[in-house]
Amino acid sequence: MTLPYMNLALALAREGALFAPPNPLVGAVVVKEGRVLSAGFHRRYGELHAERLCLQNDEDYSGADLYVNMEPCCHHGKTPPCTEIILQKGIRRVFISHRDPNPLVAGKGVEILRRGGVEVIEGILQEEALELNQPFLCSITRKRPYVTLKVATSLDGRLAAHTGESERLSSPLSHEIVHLIRRESDAIMVGKGTLLKDNPLLTVRGEGEGKPLLRAVLSSHLDLEERANLFHTPQGGDVHLFASRECDPHRVRLWGERGVKVHQVGSGDGGLNLEEVLAVLQELRTGRLLVEGGGALASSFLKADLVDRLVLFMDPSTLLGDGIPFSGSLRPLSPAQGRRLKKVRFFDLDTNILLEGFFHVYGDR
Ligand SMILES: NC(=O)c1ccc[n+]([C@@H]2O[C@H](COP(=O)([O-])OP(=O)(O)OC[C@H]3O[C@@H](n4cnc5c(N)ncnc54)[C@H](OP(=O)(O)O)[C@@H]3O)[C@@H](O)[C@H]2O)c1
Repeated sequence: MTLPYMNLALALAREGALFAPPNPLVGAVVVKEGRVLSAGFHRRYGELHAERLCLQNDEDYSGADLYVNMEPCCHHGKTPPCTEIILQKGIRRVFISHRDPNPLVAGKGVEILRRGGVEVIEGILQEEALELNQPFLCSITRKRPYVTLKVATSLDGRLAAHTGESERLSSPLSHEIVHLIRRESDAIMVGKGTLLKDNPLLTVRGEGEGKPLLRAVLSSHLDLEERANLFHTPQGGDVHLFASRECDPHRVRLWGERGVKVHQVGSGDGGLNLEEVLAVLQELRTGRLLVEGGGALASSFLKADLVDRLVLFMDPSTLLGDGIPFSGSLRPLSPAQGRRLKKVRFFDLDTNILLEGFFHVYGDR
């Protein structure tokens, strides 16, 4: 009977997707004599962890089993250690999917529980649980936000015609899915070219609960249009501009006075240093970054090997010839040497094909 309970814990964990990051998505279920006594999930960064939420009532939990998709924490962070309450409440067995790679935990939680006489069973639905928490695992192991690159292309992999025109590549259903992906992101980014050409809002729209995103634009010299939509929709989220260290200080001051946050980073041949940009976003507690193009920015992220997940909407009925590519800076000598995606999945949408694949898959081993 362990799988259904862990499945429930995982389903609950997913409910935290909006507000729990950059913390992991964690769900917990407490079972005694075949009855679920309590169940919950980590709702919001800084609030109670799933285990504590489940065990805080006056119920008699002694001898019960706890199912939780990640190793319980054993350190004092924003909340007290979960191992403490598990031991206090007399839990008999703890089932976990995988250990927490955070060096503050990393097996110590399991050890403390075992030393306290609790039986710990590891590896339940591990693969599913690891997939769920890829952004958290990335932030711990790579110390940067998890990067999803989203592009809409023609059959021949172009983001736009050579004129820069890119409308009508994505179908209405693809647009809806894009907003679902935005909803599960913390920040969204475009290059200066896209801001000038498309004048996007970079907001989450559509039905359901959402939160404002951190909206980022890369522009070395801050030569942007003040009247762009982005700068007149404060309810859509804070705007952060990334510029080069050599940018005219007068412009930096001017944008700062307009209520926009400006970060100056190093730059090289390909534009701003993306690792520095990601380090700033990590500091700002961005767990999940969605890069929405255009061609030069997508290409730079790919070249720097900083894309974790690719989501590609393809219009298989349109050829755009010498239009704008999204991977133009990659120059493998043969297909065998090309950058390879793992775990590729395809979905047939109305007039589009959706492809999802991963350049990096994080695990705890
Ligand atoms: N189909 C789609 O999914 C999709 C999505 C978005 C956009 N688009 C289309 O793509 C076109 C815009 O693409 P684009 O290639 O011209 O512009 P872009 O990628 O949006 O922006 C490129 C500009 O960003 C700045 N930048 C700063 N650091 C960079 C770095 N490390 N790497 C790359 N760029 C950096 C540079 O300007 P500075 O030198 O001034 O810093 C660079 O010229 C438009 O036609 C738009 O409609 C299509």
